[in-house]
Amino acid sequence: MSLLLGRDVFGDEKNKGNVLSKQEAEDLLNDWVKNERLKLHMKQVAHLMKSWAQEKENLSDADVWQWQLAGLLHDADWDLWPETHCKKIIEELEKRNVDPEVIHAIASHGHLHFGVMPQTKMDKMLYAFDELSGLIHAYSLMRPNGYEAMDIKGVKKRLKEKSFAANVSREDINDACERAGIGLDELIAFIIAHQPNVA
Ligand SMILES: [Fe+2]
Repeated sequence: MSLLLGRDVFGDEKNKGNVLSKQEAEDLLNDWVKNERLKLHMKQVAHLMKSWAQEKENLSDADVWQWQLAGLLHDADWDLWPETHCKKIIEELEKRNVDPEVIHAIASHGHLHFGVMPQTKMDKMLYAFDELSGLIHAYSLMRPNGYEAMDIKGVKKRLKEKSFAANVSREDINDACERAGIGLDELIAFIIAHQPNVA
């Protein structure tokens, strides 16, 4: 099964600045995603994107919401349409005239699967947070006190254990850090600091 998208232009430049409202995004999420674990994953990635855009990039509220929106919807079609994962949500956002940069970030969140290279900082951070956020969440679930006192060393140990959260691609994580120009330690520390706030 190939998830390759076969194109690298998404959306329409004339839709720059167009986004879904918080309510519209939430409705889409609730309509399309019934799996609560997946929904939590998307909310976690959205929160990380929002926090990074605010704290590290100092973006305006409008731009911060674009980052958050990309995180919130990046896996929206995975639950109901796994065979056309990514394609389906991209087409939906194109139909709704969403900003092309938001759509491009979603299209490039796994270039090894979808064949679209991350280019902007938003693209790269979505790609970087996606897999690592999942692994750190899985790690929190096996610790008696969840995220409390979790450290970088412990996360790195789990990364080295191939059998732990085996579906999390280590290849993607290393590639994403390199592309984003961020050290693995910095990324892990950021996720440990921000992810516990998501319920
Ligand atoms: Fe994801």
